[in-house]
Amino acid sequence: MNAPVFQMRNVSIDLDSPKTPARRIANGIDLELHRGKTLALVGESGCGKSVTALSAMNLLSAPLRISEGSILLETEAGREDIARLNPSGSQMRAIRGRRIAMIFQDPMTALDPVYTVGDQITESLCQHLGLSRKDAWKRAVELLRLVGIPAPEQRARNYPFQLSGGMRQRVMIAIAIACSPSVLIADEPTTALDVTVQAQILELLRGLGEDLGMATLLITHDLGVVAENADEVIVMYRGYVVEKAGVDALFDNPAHPYTQGLMASLPPADGERIELTPIPGQVPAITEDIVGCPFASRCPHVMPKCGETMPALGAISSEQSVACWLYPAAAEARP
Ligand SMILES: Nc1ncnc2c1ncn2[C@@H]1O[C@H](COP(=O)(O)OP(=O)(O)O)[C@@H](O)[C@H]1O
Ligand code: SF4
Ligand SMILES: [Mg+2]
Repeated sequence: MNAPVFQMRNVSIDLDSPKTPARRIANGIDLELHRGKTLALVGESGCGKSVTALSAMNLLSAPLRISEGSILLETEAGREDIARLNPSGSQMRAIRGRRIAMIFQDPMTALDPVYTVGDQITESLCQHLGLSRKDAWKRAVELLRLVGIPAPEQRARNYPFQLSGGMRQRVMIAIAIACSPSVLIADEPTTALDVTVQAQILELLRGLGEDLGMATLLITHDLGVVAENADEVIVMYRGYVVEKAGVDALFDNPAHPYTQGLMASLPPADGERIELTPIPGQVPAITEDIVGCPFASRCPHVMPKCGETMPALGAISSEQSVACWLYPAAAEARP
């Protein structure tokens, strides 16, 4: 595979509040994004997916901060560690939206209700690419067409409230891709939409990623979405990457007991009605002190060692790694 356009290396995120002891919310996250490919980040609610996404954009604000690691992005100046840039400084603002863009779960809160959607796309084009207002408007209409909005000339003059949820999410995608970023981060982009629209939006994202050569980080709590839309997958649990694999390897052979639990609670693709087995218990809160594997309280295979030390991510094949004491690779990978 080609060199990654984006790389998080050993990134940890801390919650530093003057009122409470510091808490580690994400631990040593490593991930790589490649042009035209989609990496899915999957895990239940509260596992740390959104904070990881925000850190990738260098968008964390107090009490959250990147406490270690680097975030390498290809920019005009070459490979840059954006974790070192001031999150609200001019350098970071020039990169965000231009080189790396994000689509959020709820377009209604991300779009400005008092501007037309055409104006909102135009603004990004004028700011980052220095286009004239007339050229930017023309390009905004083209972008609306590209994301599948019918009658884009008229729609560009609409305000967000005049559009359906699916159309608003298409507008968000148009804004995100307006300046041809090399990296697109989509945090649960379809959770608020009904199933049919959800599938259409995900298909649109995948097609655009491939056609425009963008590297996509797709965040979801739904393994069904992963199966349909990802090339590679990272499974996250309570701030740790617990499994990393190519999508086929993951579905053929889910290795981590947490991944196996997620699979068991996934309805079969053929629509057959079977009894699903949800994983008992919950993701431990960030305020809970944990020694050893964070999945131990829910794991059917837990053994004494699991409560003592967190296993490291070890390779069990050329395209699959797992952090679990059931695998000798975890012991060999210990730093
Ligand atoms: N601003 C914040 N202040 C305090 N805790 C936070 C903040 N943002 C996230 N968290 C905590 O960090 C953990 C991970 O959150 P998040 O990344 O939103 O999870 P996910 O996106 O996987 O559902 C959760 O326990 C959440 O409560
Ligand atoms: S390390 Fe132990 S508790 Fe954690 S997933 Fe593996 S077997 Fe289960
Ligand atoms: Mg989230």
